[in-house]
Amino acid sequence: MILNIRRPDDFHVHLRDGEMLRKVVNHTSKHFERALVMPNVPPIDTGPQASDLRNRISKCSEFEFQPLMTIRLTERTTPATIHEAKEHGVVAAKVYPQGVTTGSHGGVTVEQLRGLGDTFAAMEQSGMVLCWHGELPGPGWLTAEQRMLPEMHRVVDGFPKLRQVMEHISTREGVEWVRSCPDTVAGTITVHHLYLTLDDLGGRGRWGGGGQLHPHYFYSPIAKFDEDREILLRAALEPTGKFFLGTDSAPHPTAAKFNVDAGCCAAGVFSSPVAMAALASRFDAEEALDRLEDFTSVNGAKFYGLPLNEGRMELAREPWVVPRMIEGMTPFLAGEELPWRVL
Ligand code: NCD
Ligand code: DOR
Ligand code: ZN
Ligand code: ZN
Repeated sequence: MILNIRRPDDFHVHLRDGEMLRKVVNHTSKHFERALVMPNVPPIDTGPQASDLRNRISKCSEFEFQPLMTIRLTERTTPATIHEAKEHGVVAAKVYPQGVTTGSHGGVTVEQLRGLGDTFAAMEQSGMVLCWHGELPGPGWLTAEQRMLPEMHRVVDGFPKLRQVMEHISTREGVEWVRSCPDTVAGTITVHHLYLTLDDLGGRGRWGGGGQLHPHYFYSPIAKFDEDREILLRAALEPTGKFFLGTDSAPHPTAAKFNVDAGCCAAGVFSSPVAMAALASRFDAEEALDRLEDFTSVNGAKFYGLPLNEGRMELAREPWVVPRMIEGMTPFLAGEELPWRVL
């Protein structure tokens, strides 16, 4: 069986810079017409920085590809920063609460966040989208997402025309919050949050057993429970248009996932090369292949006010074993056989 869909977009990806950018960019641009490039590593805080990175990305890509740029919100971001970024074609600005993920030390504290009113007003006025890493710093890792919702809701109430995206939703409460918000609020869902739970990370699940910890399943926000994964799947399939794909593909060299000297493991899943095959496989298992195109190629473009892509992608129901290693990195579901592949 062949599935022919509109060429997809990835509304949340980490492409990095330099050597790593060269290694990963074509794994995104091969499958995705456009991608929203996250500004955490390297830090991108201004329009000129975003323009420069956009040029480097375009130079490295072998395929037709449009990088959509974001900047980070910091305590130094002002309305002038926003207007300048807008002139440089930046489409979104992202909140990274300090201490919740890779590179977030340069982000904002909750106190600073509450002082960003003028910046949010400038974004609202200029039509820039606000993206949230929706986790509140502080004790309580597994409840960090739920605890962030009131902070986000204040901004929804305060800036009714500001479009906002809750990135990489990982909990039931996150899904329900997005559903309860007006149409100015949407959410992205990753491929890994549709596959994994904490059990998989801990070696007690379907993907990676043996009772051993699986560093490749360590990411932020951390995988949650089975009921969260189920409700995320329902959200990905629903026809409201409020949920769309953001892979959060976040490459780290395999050596950083198994950092023996530091005894640490970097957070992130390198999923770009696998995302579309894994999604088709997941949607097919739910007998919902007819919902794939809206999730990957329609809902996000509409929310961001972009034209739908004209190009097409073909996938086939043919077994495909995910490579164990790509450019010194272990991709998501490495070594697993998937029932679908991208042609
Ligand atoms: C840490 C990292 O980069 O690994 N983040 C940071 O230094 N801001 C991870 C973390 O603290 O969440
Ligand atoms: O797991 C993650 N890794 N989550 C993020 O939000 C950031 C990312 C990274 O940049 O490595
Ligand atoms: Zn994030
Ligand atoms: Zn991310």
